[in-house]
Amino acid sequence: MTIKKQQVVDALKQVIFFAKKDNIVDLNMIQDISIKGKEIKVIIIFEKLDDPAVGIIYNSVVKTLKNEFGDDITVDVKPVADDTPGPLSGVKNIIAVISGKGGVGKSTVAANLAVSLAKSGSKVGILDADVLGPSVPIMFGVEDGQPKVVEKKGKAVLLPLENFGIKILSIGFFVKPDQALMWRGSMANNAFNQLMTDSDWGELDFLVIDMPPGTGDIQLTLAQNYNIRGAVLVTTPQKVATADVRRAAMMYRQEKLMIPLLGIIENMSYFIPDDMPDKKYYVFGQGASDRLANELGMKILGRIPIDAKVSETGDKGMPLSLVDKSAVSKAFAEIAVKLKAEVAKL
Ligand SMILES: Nc1ncnc2c1ncn2[C@@H]1O[C@H](COP(=O)(O)OP(=O)(O)O)[C@@H](O)[C@H]1O
Ligand SMILES: [Mg+2]
Repeated sequence: MTIKKQQVVDALKQVIFFAKKDNIVDLNMIQDISIKGKEIKVIIIFEKLDDPAVGIIYNSVVKTLKNEFGDDITVDVKPVADDTPGPLSGVKNIIAVISGKGGVGKSTVAANLAVSLAKSGSKVGILDADVLGPSVPIMFGVEDGQPKVVEKKGKAVLLPLENFGIKILSIGFFVKPDQALMWRGSMANNAFNQLMTDSDWGELDFLVIDMPPGTGDIQLTLAQNYNIRGAVLVTTPQKVATADVRRAAMMYRQEKLMIPLLGIIENMSYFIPDDMPDKKYYVFGQGASDRLANELGMKILGRIPIDAKVSETGDKGMPLSLVDKSAVSKAFAEIAVKLKAEVAKL
């Protein structure tokens, strides 16, 4: 009996990729089939080679072909990774800005970090994934914006808004504040996926993500599904805040995610009175962030002073680092330099 290619194709239609609810032939996963006598070689394309489905499908292909053509045939299955450029292929570094709880200044840090990275010459986008409190649109003065939908290669894609040279998308463009609490789990994940992969981010050096605070399912799924280059932790100096952020850090560092923790940013670190620019008052205490950094083996990337202008400019839609040469802006400029250095080490 000579085995024909079409027979192999037909047999492979019995191999189902359960997560995708279809067979591997109709999913266009077969890159090549070659047959030499009783030897069949199949090359199968996977989106990711570390997908647990790779092993399952591998075994299933061998079993199916032996069932079909006899136990004496040799089956050589070669899984290969899909190298067609993905929607985020133009994005060099995805940086997640995380915190243990809300209110520590995570969004403020994400926004100002994006601005200072851009000021240092990088191409930057910011994605506001904080379902429970999307605030990036206000901070960038685009809260009334409506991202356009355009067609690209037969697919509808979202165009990020742009301000100050930074590309911006937010879950806040799609959810009204009074609906936010209902947006848990799968809805939030769906929206996030669209903002990540059905959007035209183009070429970016950094995509800064304002992640939801804490360690719930949403955070876990988001962190699992994307190739996050590293995470930056935001905390305030109080002990309680550092305890929360420790939990978050452990989640991102756990084995199945292994997202590198690039450093800690201590926000609302100290206060400089206007009339005494050389004085620093550590109103929330000192030391807790350093202990956390030591314990986690992380660097402190910077300390941001408390400054009423931070909220004023945030509310007006202009991140502070954009508009002045304050201590806050300087701190962020230094953080951008350090962050780039940490990323370069990865
Ligand atoms: N360094 C700072 N100095 C003064 N106010 C700040 C500072 N950082 C954040 N804020 C203010 O604190 C509030 C919470 O910050 P936000 O960035 O929204 O926190 P989160 O995203 O963690 O909930 C905002 O009103 C913000 O303007
Ligand atoms: Mg926020």
